[in-house]
Amino acid sequence: MWLPCGRASRRVVSSFSRRVFRSYFHVEGRRKFNVAAFMPEAAGIQGLSDRSTLQEFSVSNGESFWAAAARHRLSWISPFHTAQDCDLSRGRIKWFEGGKLNVSVNCLDRHVHTCPEKVALIWERDEPGSEVEVTYRQLLEMTCRLGNLLRRRGVKKGDCVTIYMPPCPLAVASMLACARIGAAHNVVFAGFSAEALAERIRDAHSSTVITVNQGVRGGKVIELKKTVDTAVDSCPMVQQVLVAMRTENPVAMTARDDVVCEPAVMDSEDVLFLLYTSGSTGKPKGLVHTQAGYLLYAALTHRYVFSYHDGDVFGCVADIGWITGHSYSVYGPLANGGTTVLFESTPIYPDPGRYWEMVQRLKINQFYGAPTAIRLLLKYGDQWVHKYDRSTLKTLGSVGEPINTEAWEWYHRVVGDGRCPVVDTWWQTETGGICISPRPSDPDAEIVPGMAMRPFFGIKPVLMDTEGKVLTSNNTSGALCISQPWPGMARTIHNNHQRYIETYFSKSFCPVPTGYFFTGDGAYRSKEGYYQITGRLDDVINVSGHRIGTAEIEDVVVSDDCPLPVSSGVYTFVVLKKDVDVQETDLSRLLNDMVSKKIAKYACPDFIQFVHRLPKTRSGKIMRRVLRKVVERDLNGLGDLSTLDDPAAVQEIIQGHRELR
Ligand code: PRX
Repeated sequence: MWLPCGRASRRVVSSFSRRVFRSYFHVEGRRKFNVAAFMPEAAGIQGLSDRSTLQEFSVSNGESFWAAAARHRLSWISPFHTAQDCDLSRGRIKWFEGGKLNVSVNCLDRHVHTCPEKVALIWERDEPGSEVEVTYRQLLEMTCRLGNLLRRRGVKKGDCVTIYMPPCPLAVASMLACARIGAAHNVVFAGFSAEALAERIRDAHSSTVITVNQGVRGGKVIELKKTVDTAVDSCPMVQQVLVAMRTENPVAMTARDDVVCEPAVMDSEDVLFLLYTSGSTGKPKGLVHTQAGYLLYAALTHRYVFSYHDGDVFGCVADIGWITGHSYSVYGPLANGGTTVLFESTPIYPDPGRYWEMVQRLKINQFYGAPTAIRLLLKYGDQWVHKYDRSTLKTLGSVGEPINTEAWEWYHRVVGDGRCPVVDTWWQTETGGICISPRPSDPDAEIVPGMAMRPFFGIKPVLMDTEGKVLTSNNTSGALCISQPWPGMARTIHNNHQRYIETYFSKSFCPVPTGYFFTGDGAYRSKEGYYQITGRLDDVINVSGHRIGTAEIEDVVVSDDCPLPVSSGVYTFVVLKKDVDVQETDLSRLLNDMVSKKIAKYACPDFIQFVHRLPKTRSGKIMRRVLRKVVERDLNGLGDLSTLDDPAAVQEIIQGHRELR
């Protein structure tokens, strides 16, 4: 659980931060600012005298800034004629129109041209010490073979291919093979159940699925092909399932014919991938990302947030089934010609030193992980970290949920030996890449523990109150919105543009203005103008860094498949219907099994509290914020209860509440 941004925690934060800054602050501020050296993409822009004018320019002249970056950073088949054509109020987002390119050429061919034998991927397999390296030349070859195979089997430009694989070179080659032939990919996290997979295949209308026979994780074999078999039983549109064997030789599985696969010529705004994520309703939404803007944004954020330099080994331990894996295990590092790690295992397999042993063995320079893992490892003690040499580390990153000060400090002091900046990066599946984060390489960089700090180039965050009024002062909290478009943002929800507009740009979230992107998160802006993310404002919750809609769990718990009649609230409060006689432990077990089967294991409730009623407003809406506060044990923060139908309901759940396991 994270610290709320109450006064006490902020006080700790700022006194600690002064101590921290001096130890690693890059003191370049006094030297003359050299734009070309700092950011070659911006070298042609006149009048940039320091980092803040560059930031200012990127926001006030977004179009010129991104056009310069796109020309410099991407290889185009033909140039774009219009840098941006966006209207947030209508959910119309178009970048680099007229431009033609191929994403796989940008991620592979151009690096094969200059450094074919450079390692592109290091596959950190489940068993420590059995890593496999894949060079840019090999990855291009695998991608071309797969691209040809897909083409031969009838996959065309514009089709959607579902990929259900753990992180491995073949999964990356599958993504890039889709990009090569102009098909969209739809990677589904390989921990999802058959039903969750089937729902995503159906919504995406995928006729082709790529998977592996079995996965291996934490020493256990996972029957992925069997899950796919069950899923496709309810997906009549699936015509073929391509199955790779999980083998030590990543290039041995495909046909032995030509390895030239002509890259498709793609428009900037053609679809690159769909990625399903949870919203506040039961049905996951397939967010759509397109070619040029997404790739540019992933590449630039990867380079500047993590200070990634040529020759560095980038270790993002997220699964490729999430946006973090897409942007920072695959597209960002490969677009930059980097070396990226694909992590197949868990933070505690075979023991809690796994990450740091891997850092030592692979000589990782940037490590990017989730607060939930950091908190877990912190509990196991410093000895697991001290055992290994971490001197190659330069930057430590955190993503997915707020990082509390204790975990931040441990990450910085113990893992980073007090010398590696920690970048707490805020972003979402919808944003395509990091939007708010420290940038330690900036001449005037500062980092306050537990704060995401400042917007990335071209990002203009605003805070809004509950009336939809923009809050202009500092030292204030509100709904976090972004007031102008950026190239990495999702373009639509697959097959449901109306839902996209309603969720992110319309009045449904805040009552007043249109023309803003509503993130669904709350944030605090400090006196100095730094941002701290305070958590979701809607009915989306974060379970160990995994995002899930409360409605998704509720849909399962109250489904007709349950032999017992129940209705439920959040996390997980269960109200048994009258006259039901059942052992609470039996029902808890049953509900857990159902959530695991229909969604995924991680979505299972940690604790199920049986109550007689839920706190509801007089109009019958469950007051979820009250339930959340009870679970957080923040009884002073229950807020206004005057609209409650029956205040005794709150007392009942407070009395019955138990600490989470
Ligand atoms: O609530 C925010 C939280 O994760 C949500 C996005 O989840 P997802 O689309 O799955 O993407 C996760 C990886 C980018 C956000 O709306 N979140 C993400 N990063 C942070 C965070 N909350 C606090 N601090 C962060 N650094």
